[in-house]
Amino acid sequence: MKKRYLVTAALPYANGPLHIGHLAGAYLPADIYVRYLRLMGKDVVFVCGSDEHGAAITVKARKEGVTPQEIVDKYHVLLRDTFQQIGVSFDQYHRTSSPLHHETSQEFFLKLLENGQFEEKESDQYYDPVAEQFLADRYILGTCPNCANPDAYGDQCERCGTTLSPTELISPRSTLSGAAPILKPTKHWYLKLNEHENWLRAWINTGVVDGQPVHDPSQWKNHVIGQCNSWLDHGLHPRAMTRDLDWGVDVPQQIPGSAGKKLYVWLDAPIGYISATKQWALEHGKDWTNYWLEEDSALVHFIGKDNIVFHCLIFPAILKAHGHYILPVNVPANQFLNLEGRKLSTSRNWAVWVHEYCAEFKGQEDALRYNMIKNMPEQRDSEFTWKGFQETTNSELVNNLANFVHRVLVLTHKYYEGLAPDVDHDLQIWSGWNTETARHYDEELLLLHDKLEEMGLEIMRYNFREALRILMEISSAGNALLQFNEPWKAVKTEPEKVRVVLNLGLQYVAVLSVACQPFMPFTSDKMRRMINLQSLSGKGELLFMLNELAEGNPVLPTNHAINTAEHLFTRIPDEVIQAQIDRLEATDKANAAAVLPPGGAPEEPVQASYQALKETIMYDDFAKMDIRTGTILQAEKMEKSKKLLKLQVDLGFETRTILSGIAEHYSPESVVGKQVVVLANLAPRVMMGVESSGMILMAEDSEGRLSFVAPGSAWPNGYGVK
Ligand code: MF3
Ligand code: ZN
Repeated sequence: MKKRYLVTAALPYANGPLHIGHLAGAYLPADIYVRYLRLMGKDVVFVCGSDEHGAAITVKARKEGVTPQEIVDKYHVLLRDTFQQIGVSFDQYHRTSSPLHHETSQEFFLKLLENGQFEEKESDQYYDPVAEQFLADRYILGTCPNCANPDAYGDQCERCGTTLSPTELISPRSTLSGAAPILKPTKHWYLKLNEHENWLRAWINTGVVDGQPVHDPSQWKNHVIGQCNSWLDHGLHPRAMTRDLDWGVDVPQQIPGSAGKKLYVWLDAPIGYISATKQWALEHGKDWTNYWLEEDSALVHFIGKDNIVFHCLIFPAILKAHGHYILPVNVPANQFLNLEGRKLSTSRNWAVWVHEYCAEFKGQEDALRYNMIKNMPEQRDSEFTWKGFQETTNSELVNNLANFVHRVLVLTHKYYEGLAPDVDHDLQIWSGWNTETARHYDEELLLLHDKLEEMGLEIMRYNFREALRILMEISSAGNALLQFNEPWKAVKTEPEKVRVVLNLGLQYVAVLSVACQPFMPFTSDKMRRMINLQSLSGKGELLFMLNELAEGNPVLPTNHAINTAEHLFTRIPDEVIQAQIDRLEATDKANAAAVLPPGGAPEEPVQASYQALKETIMYDDFAKMDIRTGTILQAEKMEKSKKLLKLQVDLGFETRTILSGIAEHYSPESVVGKQVVVLANLAPRVMMGVESSGMILMAEDSEGRLSFVAPGSAWPNGYGVK
């Protein structure tokens, strides 16, 4: 067990509100974990903050016609308040535009430079000659080489999902001025990630670094390790840590050539975890270094799966390159949550916005938390539906949990004037865990103890769905306890037994009021109020309770006076759900209408002209071809050739030189690292003095545009294509 914990949740971009996908992906799991640690008396600090740099911000500012500062100021406050409303209990919610963060990330940059971690490289990048600035990927639009979408971004085509580099776009244009960008040389600092590849591979897969075991890889999620290995198998390459931008953290002035250069947002943002910890330490008179530099601290990053490479490879490399920093013991990334069968999308407004939910469902915050946890995308993508939400609220929270608590309290008032009744420890009652079993009061307390321990173990293993299931099992057992023993009947015939049943019922409620807190903090507060206990401050209350239960001590003493019963949850009626569904349908219609051009006329379908089918061949003709997967390692222009690129292609079992006629479509830089499919047994051919052994397979459309043929996902080299 570690002495202290630093838990981080991905810094959300301050360019829009929070939606349920964010919540289920990173913030709820982190919050459950942290609240549990606090209840177990651990030293834990939970940090987050707004990510206020990068194109995500500047693009949004341009769209709204305001300054980036106005954007981040607006959304920082909205995000901070939303987290608070939904009960995400950060110790510090910081922001990357703060001076403390700028200093901290500049200090990092200088240290990395001093440690020889950078190489300076000049390369050609797109520049807008009218706006007189270099263009970040998101500032370049052009035609997608893959699907001919005329509005693909420099880093990605949102229609077909292909990852692009700006030079791959056909007819690129600047979003700033509309001008055609020109290539212009610019110098940047590249982190030599390639030099970190070996230890990263060992660290991820074995947990050992510098001869020390620092984590247990069997506790890491398979999909996280899988994604890391897929990156590692492709080889890590130097990665630019600076950009030509006017919004972000300045490259420190004392460095020659720093003018106009900013830190890459994925360098500064994770350092935001450190600046947030510093800010927290400042405000609380603590030492932040304990949490970042001491081996007996555990660092845990909660993120969504799109952030895996940054938290498992790049940021660890940065921490190690700086020296002395600890590495995360786990990065329990979640997969994605979908909404009513579709991917959540901010730009298409296909989302449930958390601040809107909180405004419309006041007092029902935990109903959303509960549903999100129950459907958390822990191992695979999952789905939110409004009907499902209604179902979990009404049948699980209202009928099971709220109903149980309410019945126990009402009966206690009715029979014992609101005081916990005295118990005869020698009597047996029917256990709520099993219809066949009669048990003593003390045995039931021990059973509760064991269930709580089980639940805690699941939380520590990041199995939050399973932990929630155990919590609800306790509530179900409480209901069954009442059902089997029927106190409303037995009160006349066996009053001593009813005292045991209802006292036990009160203990269940007290246990639930603590155990539910990581998942449903508002409900915990309400329950505590109802049974007249202080709300939890997260200072080891669960640990204390476990110790008491293990010794057979009840949580509420005899004659403890409870308060009046309130309803923990209210039933959600059909019309409320229907209104939400209608709203999504309206969004859907609006989106469909929005793809029409301004005139309202439907878009012309793209006229395709297909080539005639070639003559039929037999399977044997096909089987003669040895087609393999490969990766382009190097690329250069062939001298005196307009069309040819000279490629070095890794086929797994060997590296080949292959000449490919793609130079008019792709720059050499843009193809390095690309996965390709290669005809490997094509007879070698000498072209312009160079022997080419093999052929890269490309798709070509009627206008002669080319696109790489590649496996659908990251794939090892040298494997057969059939
Ligand atoms: N803002 C990023 C995103 O929303 C996450 C940044 S996480 C951090 O994808 F580590 F960089 F902070
Ligand atoms: Zn596309």
